[in-house]
Amino acid sequence: MTTLSKSRIVIAGGSSGIGLALTKILAEEGASLTVLGRDVSKLQSLKDSVDGVKTVALDARDRASLDTFFSTAGGVDHLVLAVSGGKGGGMFKELSLQELQEGFDSKFWPQLHTLQAALPYMDPAGSVTLVTAASAGSVLPGASGLAAINGALEIMIPILSAELKPLRINAVSPGVIDTPWWDFLPAAAKQQVFSDFGGRVHVGRVGRAEEVAAAIRGIIANGYINGITLRCHGGLQ
Ligand SMILES: NC(=O)c1ccc[n+]([C@@H]2O[C@H](COP(=O)([O-])OP(=O)(O)OC[C@H]3O[C@@H](n4cnc5c(N)ncnc54)[C@H](OP(=O)(O)O)[C@@H]3O)[C@@H](O)[C@H]2O)c1
Repeated sequence: MTTLSKSRIVIAGGSSGIGLALTKILAEEGASLTVLGRDVSKLQSLKDSVDGVKTVALDARDRASLDTFFSTAGGVDHLVLAVSGGKGGGMFKELSLQELQEGFDSKFWPQLHTLQAALPYMDPAGSVTLVTAASAGSVLPGASGLAAINGALEIMIPILSAELKPLRINAVSPGVIDTPWWDFLPAAAKQQVFSDFGGRVHVGRVGRAEEVAAAIRGIIANGYINGITLRCHGGLQ
């Protein structure tokens, strides 16, 4: 297994949740990290708590900002795409298609724009890891919209890996993970969701950001994992 010490790694969405946990793991290992996010206060608190990490405030929905960033970043070995919004969930009869469109606008399109903007500057021996969601492989009522957004990304993975070879392209697809993504819910409702899901997950609990981050780290470091979606969902399909 390759060490990632000194690897130039860009994490889009590395200032919170799964991306933040990955940033911490990779910083410990001595990687050269750049984290992209919108909220400057989150980026500042990341800089205050993790030595040596570079941060860039940009919105991954804005292609011009991405092009400018990558053209001046000085090359990238590994790219991780962890950005997302939170819209697009709900039973289809009542699902607002406007919200589903916002869900695509805040995850599907930003991930693809970031990937396309980065490609000219990526080391062909490196990797790209998209963070999708286990909803894409689920039969879960209320998740058709989220499954569409994440399934659309996942279905591209093997084809992109063939087109962009030898650059490795993979996805890590988390189940329910305790991160700030769920903060749109009041604290008690969030705990109820975690408890309900936790009871159905085969390992008996929702996941931790560090567990998904470790899966991403493993994929980045393993030069023979390519074109796959790795599900990290505790057994709940
Ligand atoms: N938590 C779960 O249960 C779960 C389950 C399945 C899949 N996932 C997926 O896992 C990934 C990470 O989620 P998380 O739970 O770690 O969420 P999170 O804690 O909300 O983190 C999301 C990160 O993305 C950044 N971000 C969002 N939109 C952005 C944009 N337009 N431009 C730049 N940065 C942006 C956020 O920073 P700013 O807000 O400052 O921009 C933040 O750093 C997402 O793709 C999510 O869909 C999560």
